[in-house]
Amino acid sequence: MEDAKHKVARAALDELPGRGIIGLGSGSTANLFVEELGARVRAGLAIVGVPTSESTRALATRAGIPLLDDEGPWEIDVNVDGADEVSAALDLIKGGGAAHAREKIVNFAAKRNVVIVDASKLSTRLGERWAVPVEVLPFAHGTTCAHLARLGEPRLRVRPEGPVRTDAGNLIYDVAAGPIDDPGRLDRALRAIPGVVETGLFVGRADVVLVAEKAGVRRLVRGG
Ligand code: 5RP
Repeated sequence: MEDAKHKVARAALDELPGRGIIGLGSGSTANLFVEELGARVRAGLAIVGVPTSESTRALATRAGIPLLDDEGPWEIDVNVDGADEVSAALDLIKGGGAAHAREKIVNFAAKRNVVIVDASKLSTRLGERWAVPVEVLPFAHGTTCAHLARLGEPRLRVRPEGPVRTDAGNLIYDVAAGPIDDPGRLDRALRAIPGVVETGLFVGRADVVLVAEKAGVRRLVRGG
C-alpha cells in the first residue's frame, strides 16, 4: 500500500506546470506528494504552495516549499489532493483527515484538480465504502445531529482522547448514507442544515484521478 501511494504521489509531479501556484492536499498520500514536491523545489522548481491543513503547512514548511498566506484569493494552477472514495463518475468523498472544508476551498480556487489514490479507493457509487464526513459547529451540535439523522446515520467522530476537532475547532459527524444515488442532491441537503460548515462530498470537482495499480498508474479524466 505504501508503495502504491509513493508511486501515485510521484506520478502527480508530471501534472504540474514548470512554475506557478500549487494546492497542497492533506492525508498520507498527499503528504508523500508534498515531500516529492519539496525535493523538486530544493532542486530549483519555482512553485509556491497553498496548504489545506495545519499538518500540511508544517510538512511543506519543513520540505522547503514557500507558501502563500491563508487569506486568498489565490490563482491556483493545479491542486493535488487525496480522497477516501472515488466513484465511477469521478465524484469524491473526502474528509478522512477532517480537512475537507479547507480542501474544498482550495479545490474550488484551482484551475485544475488532480486526485491521487490507490485502487482500494474506487467504487461504483459513493457511500459504498465510506460515510460522508460533515464538519459542524460545536454549538448545538446535538440539534444539528438530529437534522443529519433525517439524511443518514450520523456518528460523532471520536478518538480515545475525545471528539475529533478540525483545524477550525469544529466537530465531525460521519453520516452513513450510501450507496448514494445523487451525491449533488445529498450535498445540498446537508449544507442546508444550520450548523453544517462543509461536507466531504466533492461532486464534479476532480479533473484527473491518478490511480496506483499493480501494473502502474492509471490516469482517469473527467468526461474522458
Ligand atoms: C483528508 C482527506 C484525505 O485526502 C483523505 O482522507 C485520503 O487520505 P489518505 O491519502 O491518507 O488515504 O480528505 O481530509
